Amino acid sequence: MPVLTLMPSGKNINAAEGMSILQAILSSGENLAHKCEGKAECGSCHIFVLEGRKSLSKTQRLENEKLDTIVGVGSKSRLACQALLGAENVTVEILSFV
Ligand code: FES
Repeated sequence: MPVLTLMPSGKNINAAEGMSILQAILSSGENLAHKCEGKAECGSCHIFVLEGRKSLSKTQRLENEKLDTIVGVGSKSRLACQALLGAENVTVEILSFV
């Protein structure tokens, strides 16, 4: 079971493999902007993946296209609604709270 760590708070979430990072965050009671409800359309769930990036699902075309439109995107960027957790622990930096 992967543990998802949220920065800067340092909160640890016990997540399940196959869950999106967004689902894991919301199911723990934390909040993250997700204006399009996870359709890779709004970009509001943009996060930085600090550790464990390789265990996440690969970035698909829709996600890439949306990331291209967001200011401040870097090599660590993912959309939390599109990145699915694998078996390994992941640490992410939350950029926008609701
Ligand atoms: S919730 Fe809209 S892009 Fe992720």
